[in-house]
Amino acid sequence: MDKKFYITTPIYYVNDVAHIGHAYTTVSADCLARYKRQKGYKVLFLTGTDEHGQKVEKAAAAIGKTPQELADTVVVRFQELWKTLNISNDDFIRTTEDRHKVAVTKLWKEVAAAGDIYLGDYEGLYCTPCENFLTEMQLDDKGNCPDCARAVEPLKESSYFFRLSKYGEALLRHIEETPDCLGPKVRRNEITSFLREGLHDISISRTSFSWGVPVPTDGSAISEGSDHIMYVWFEALTNYLTATGYPDEKYKEFWPADVHVVGKDIIRFHAVYWPAFLMAAGIEVPRKVFAHGWWTVEGEKMSKSKGNVADPFKICADYGVDQFRYFLMREIPFGGDGDFSIDALKGRINSELANDLGNLLSRTVSMIVKYRDGVSPKRCGAVESPELEGVLQNEFKKLAAAIDGHYSELSFSRALEDIWKVVRELNGYVDKSAPWQVAKSGDDDALSNILYTLREGLRIVAVYVYPFMPEAAGNIWHQIGIEKSIAESSFDEEIVWGQESTDGKVTKGAALFPRIEEAKV
Ligand code: MSP
Repeated sequence: MDKKFYITTPIYYVNDVAHIGHAYTTVSADCLARYKRQKGYKVLFLTGTDEHGQKVEKAAAAIGKTPQELADTVVVRFQELWKTLNISNDDFIRTTEDRHKVAVTKLWKEVAAAGDIYLGDYEGLYCTPCENFLTEMQLDDKGNCPDCARAVEPLKESSYFFRLSKYGEALLRHIEETPDCLGPKVRRNEITSFLREGLHDISISRTSFSWGVPVPTDGSAISEGSDHIMYVWFEALTNYLTATGYPDEKYKEFWPADVHVVGKDIIRFHAVYWPAFLMAAGIEVPRKVFAHGWWTVEGEKMSKSKGNVADPFKICADYGVDQFRYFLMREIPFGGDGDFSIDALKGRINSELANDLGNLLSRTVSMIVKYRDGVSPKRCGAVESPELEGVLQNEFKKLAAAIDGHYSELSFSRALEDIWKVVRELNGYVDKSAPWQVAKSGDDDALSNILYTLREGLRIVAVYVYPFMPEAAGNIWHQIGIEKSIAESSFDEEIVWGQESTDGKVTKGAALFPRIEEAKV
């Protein structure tokens, strides 16, 4: 059977501009998706847009558009951003598509058939920006939404309820039995204590506005005519099933999802509501939900009113796409919070990218061009020394042993740290082996071996770098004369040390990562 891997990002609301927070979730998922493809998995990588709900309806009304018009405009910006960021998603879902209405209607019916939906009256508070029902107890000390600090609105309407209270025990047991299903640990603890407090049934329909999928009232696949529309989170979460082909049986090819990557603000929806809906419908729950932290920008919370929303298009245009991807994945351990600043970005570009990796490539390429006219040298094992080549090869072995663990824990920054240990080791090797002196001494075998070792090191480093910086990795291969596609190469085969250099000529290209000069900052 094919190894498969199904990874998702949250679907983004279309009432907002795409910013660095959205870019972060999607880039992280892209790195994992690319790695899994390198490892031979058949990957389904899904992202998309969340287009229904009161928030979108209100935002559209405010600018005199229909919600669909607003969605149609904003979705393009998200799609452009994913193209700019070199995101390799296999599907893009919009919740206004028919396939989604079919799936969510079916899921509703399954949950209803299990006896877990009943009609009642909802009386309480609602936070429209978060599309979240709240109790008095949950409000912050100013009486506002605990998540976004904005005012909540009283709400009274007839509503369908989901028997969430029935699933508390099962959810707790699931987390205890498979602790890996929820990460990082701080979120697992948060959800576990939330579950221990006991769950209340939740309202899952609305009647006060109409921008959503109608609650089914008859036997048809998409039901019209009900004055209830589904609560946007019930509907939105189901996008993960929709993209697998649900309700068609083929959905089982990719379901259950291997990982839902989300931000910490929406962990409860993913780790409590979503698995409970699925349990009610008798569908397997996702294997893992992982929540990353939040970025501040130059030390401050991002907000439209402050005008400090970091624009990923601009950052990419000014500093480069791979540079931005690298920074996002390297700067903060995935799961924690961190700060985005241009100084920090520039620092990493100049030191880790330009100095460490970029220089290594340019030195290696220049020497192979200078001493061997661009022809890749052959390995000469006879002159390898345990202190030089031996140490280096050992570092590569350590990296190979560690990397898969980092990816399974979504420890992107640790993966990059370990890759950079090897990059630095390679730079150290250049200094220690001093090829310019060996060239003067006329020891041809020794020189070939050094050049071989450097090229081989770079060939393998590029394979490790690829998920994070696909363009740069391809560029490295190109400059060292490897013609095949790095995207289509097998990770396990390519990271083996000691391959024959049979490919094309080594040619000097433009700087891999141009240094950012002071003036730019
Ligand atoms: N539509 C819902 C998700 C539904 S999934 C079934 C939603 N959309 S969102 O557009 O508001 O946010 C999407 C993601 O962006 C969330 O994972 C959120 O954590 C992330 N971020 C928004 N601002 C962020 C930062 N400042 N930093 C990091 N990520 C942040 O929620």
